[in-house]
Amino acid sequence: MCLSRSFAAATKASVGDVESYLGVMESAYPDGLVLVASVGDGEGASQLAGCVCLSFDESTRDDFPPPLVPDPGSAYLSNIAVAPKQRRKGVARALMAAAEEASRARGMAGVQLHVYLDNAGAIELYEDLGYVELRKEGMLALLRGKGQRALLAKELS
Ligand SMILES: CC(C)(COP(=O)(O)OP(=O)(O)OC[C@H]1O[C@@H](n2cnc3c(N)ncnc32)[C@H](O)[C@@H]1OP(=O)(O)O)[C@@H](O)C(=O)NCCC(=O)NCCS
Repeated sequence: MCLSRSFAAATKASVGDVESYLGVMESAYPDGLVLVASVGDGEGASQLAGCVCLSFDESTRDDFPPPLVPDPGSAYLSNIAVAPKQRRKGVARALMAAAEEASRARGMAGVQLHVYLDNAGAIELYEDLGYVELRKEGMLALLRGKGQRALLAKELS
């Protein structure tokens, strides 16, 4: 399950919705974190606003083909997603800051992530935060019908 894809179409998601996903991510990323942002609904309950996954375990990156293999020594960030109604309010910016802080606390040299080159909003977010493109898939990726991905990176000070 890919939560960012789920959120892309969802109009409402509860904090509880993420619990099964956390279970999946716990087994997929045994040494990692899932950071969750929530907002009050005005009636005492909280609503899931967004999430992001972080892996510190380099063995979780074996599935990526060259040139997309993330570099050792950096945390790997994935699945950032913000509920449609909460977008453009700084939720992703806050999740990214928390992810970078957690990576720094783990002694990671940087954070790396993949993005589809046609995802203009996400690219704008990452570039604004100082991420730069390291490598990208060739045009053959387009033939697979999934679009081209790039590996972005940011060094942590
Ligand atoms: C990409 C996404 C996570 C951004 O979340 P968000 O909470 O709306 O982002 P923020 O409000 O923190 O935006 C921070 C900055 O990112 C950039 N940005 C975010 N969304 C943007 C968009 N749709 N178009 C252009 N720039 C965008 C802007 O620079 C923005 O700053 P500004 O609002 O002051 O102009 C959200 O649109 C989303 O969940 N998309 C679907 C899932 C997805 O594509 N995830 C990325 C996988 S790589």
